[in-house]
Amino acid sequence: MLIANPRAQRSAYPADLQAIMSVERAQESRRWLSSWQGIARQATPLRDLPGLAQQLGIASFSLKDESLRSSLGSFKALGAPVALVRQILRLHPGLDPAAILSGRYAEQLKGYTVISATDGNHGRSLAAAARDAGCGCQIVLHAQVSAEREQAIAAFGAEVVRIAGNYDASVEEAARLAQVHGWQVISDTSYEGYEDIPRDVMQGYSTIAAEVIEQTGTQPGGASAFSHVFLQGGVGGMAAGLASYLWEVHGAQRPRLVVVEPAQADCLLQSAIQGRPAQATGSVDSVMAGLACGETSPLAWKFLDPSVDHFMTVEDDAAIAAMRTLAQGVGGDIPVVAGESGVAGLAALQVLRGDAAGWAALGLDAQSRVLIINTEGATAPQVYAELVGEPAAAVEARQAAWLAR
Ligand SMILES: Cc1ncc(COP(=O)(O)O)c(C=O)c1O
Repeated sequence: MLIANPRAQRSAYPADLQAIMSVERAQESRRWLSSWQGIARQATPLRDLPGLAQQLGIASFSLKDESLRSSLGSFKALGAPVALVRQILRLHPGLDPAAILSGRYAEQLKGYTVISATDGNHGRSLAAAARDAGCGCQIVLHAQVSAEREQAIAAFGAEVVRIAGNYDASVEEAARLAQVHGWQVISDTSYEGYEDIPRDVMQGYSTIAAEVIEQTGTQPGGASAFSHVFLQGGVGGMAAGLASYLWEVHGAQRPRLVVVEPAQADCLLQSAIQGRPAQATGSVDSVMAGLACGETSPLAWKFLDPSVDHFMTVEDDAAIAAMRTLAQGVGGDIPVVAGESGVAGLAALQVLRGDAAGWAALGLDAQSRVLIINTEGATAPQVYAELVGEPAAAVEARQAAWLAR
């Protein structure tokens, strides 16, 4: 399903939003995180895939490869760690923010415990950051989170709590446990009375947009190098973090923004239809595990409602096809390991290619310069191998050979 958002604005970035998320604050988060051993020192690659662009009938297709952001395998390494740093600073304002994740204050933070629900990647990043800072970590997992995702979280020393319900139930359980035990929730989704920490998480994600702007040599206030940016949505935090940054930098010349979700977890599309944060209509169970969220983050919605031009849902089969496309590389393109939730933008484009009305509605044509964010690599390696038909290591080997040509 595809809908246009009648409330999308083309204007300067509004001051009320800038007071919540800003380029300045994003750059500060970026500086603080840059010395953490958990993320790559250099910017993630912005790959140009001309073979795929030609196949799609557009001028260019670019992919920001967040699978290489961190050994944690996803862009989520930019969110929870910086939110943890900012929360620790609220409690201990005198600490050096850049030294918190190097463990300098581990002794002081020993009795402090953080907790969050996750469908995998956020929890993995929080667990890694908590271990490095020296504090305790509890992670609440819902029934659909795979055993290999659980093991990856537990490997960082976090205690895992399993519940029978879905993602939204795990968010409630994390809040309840925090209340009972005096733990601090570090969540990537907001709810009533809880906005500062999810704001910090979203702001951390803005680094992706900051790097894209640097990598394309775009000037502040000038037009974006891209006509369209496809952003996948779970609770909406990643899309909001990038939309806010791109809007502040490009103003009225911002690119057209398209948010893509699984058909079964369409909370953002439903929010666009209803004009307020809403719940998904489907089963909230998708192969795109990171996007399988049933409730929109109200704080994220504040940014998405006025900035996203189109909302679209895709089926699981389309995601699997897109994973295979990127693993193979079209027409001599570099092969890319793209996980289930990483490919939503390409899945949407491939579906739209067979839908002339949808293609036109998005203003896609031979001049379009499209950017997608590959938000994860093979974060669940067994699932990846099953869906793509070969292990991620085989694709990585082809990529290495391509780069060495
Ligand atoms: C790989 C991946 N991509 C995208 C998202 C969506 O992010 P958000 O929930 O902030 O919308 C997630 C969320 O877990 C994810 O793990």
